[in-house]
Amino acid sequence: MLPERVISHADFRRHAKRRLPHVLFDYVDGGAYDELTMERNRAGLTHMLLRQRVLCDMSSVRMETRLAGVDATMPVVLAPVGFAGMLARRGEVQAARAAQAAGVPFTLSTVGICAAEEVTNAVEPPWMQLYMIRDRAFMRDLLQRTWALGSRQLVFTVDLPAPGARYRDVRSGMSAQQNWRGSLRRAIDGLAHSGWLLDVYMSGRPHSFGNLAGAGIDMSSFATAWGWMRANFDASVSWPDVAFVRQNWPGAILLKGILDVEDARMAVDAGVDGIVVSNHGGRQLDGVRSSIEALPPIADAVDGRLDVLMDGGIVSGLDILKALANGARGCMLGRAWAFALAAGGEEGVSRMLSRIRDELRLAMIMTGCKDVRTAGRHLIDCKALGHAHL
Ligand SMILES: Cc1cc2nc3c(=O)[nH]c(=O)nc-3n(C[C@H](O)[C@H](O)[C@H](O)COP(=O)(O)O)c2cc1C
Repeated sequence: MLPERVISHADFRRHAKRRLPHVLFDYVDGGAYDELTMERNRAGLTHMLLRQRVLCDMSSVRMETRLAGVDATMPVVLAPVGFAGMLARRGEVQAARAAQAAGVPFTLSTVGICAAEEVTNAVEPPWMQLYMIRDRAFMRDLLQRTWALGSRQLVFTVDLPAPGARYRDVRSGMSAQQNWRGSLRRAIDGLAHSGWLLDVYMSGRPHSFGNLAGAGIDMSSFATAWGWMRANFDASVSWPDVAFVRQNWPGAILLKGILDVEDARMAVDAGVDGIVVSNHGGRQLDGVRSSIEALPPIADAVDGRLDVLMDGGIVSGLDILKALANGARGCMLGRAWAFALAAGGEEGVSRMLSRIRDELRLAMIMTGCKDVRTAGRHLIDCKALGHAHL
């Protein structure tokens, strides 16, 4: 049971930290290099101020919207999170159940522990996320498999031609082979987290990348799995591959990891249905813009010709309203659901989503925003101190 007092993102993070072995907590919590962009994602949102408006008759507030052609009860999507099945037993299924109950889409990572088949047995077909892997025949099969299962939204992640330099993962042994000392430290760490050990390590198997079964991955340790990713993620990925994906996916395609106006324009020209303005939660190139900084010029350039989603640092309903006000149609949540899952499984993700919904509703009421689809820059207090750095 998740204690009642676990409410805010900080609470979930703290609870997850207690429950998870350090290697997994750092994997979720960390970013690339010095984690400057990761911090900037949060700072950009926390420094942005909303305008408080009063006497607007806020007796009715509309949060429902459509994202990439599907109805959602609020402008939220659970972002793809690799290895989520290591955070809680069959974690992707638990999170997808919570998302479905809340009426928001769940995105299944290519490198999820649970396969699309397992998720689809439990809930409606998820949005599918794709990393470009060298073996194009395998890619084609994966697309056909998930299409046949009923998925219709494909999130093609384009900001990971190669895995980023995440030093916490190197130190912890998540992404690099350890000597015997490191392995012993890791084993003791696992034993010290008995709740996780019983729930996930002992009863949550198999711990392989379900969607990549048959791709010849050695999953005997995190380091060998990362080694496979480094060797097989395709750094040659380029715009013609978007056409390749289009040929093999008749449904909606969203390019995830757009941070530059020029790339956003090219996405429009490529005919995709949406983009996710994202720097991968600060896990790829450190020292680039925060997502909230990148969003307004991209939204202007795209000018409604495709759906603009945004992620990076979103942990509350207030953050969501700020993103909508700056031109996003919806937001993806990454660490917010990963920590909620680690802290309390399906119940944790459900509680987090219900808190986010309450926060968004209250933020709309307090800013005089009656409909998420009409949120705009008029909601932002541009003149206040603290906005200047954006
Ligand atoms: C632990 C973790 C694993 C992730 N795995 C994936 C993945 O498999 N595919 C992907 O496209 N993005 C992945 N991401 C990036 C998220 O989809 C999302 O872009 C990012 O988490 C947003 O930032 P936030 O965590 O601050 O919300 C991952 C992020 C985290 C934190």
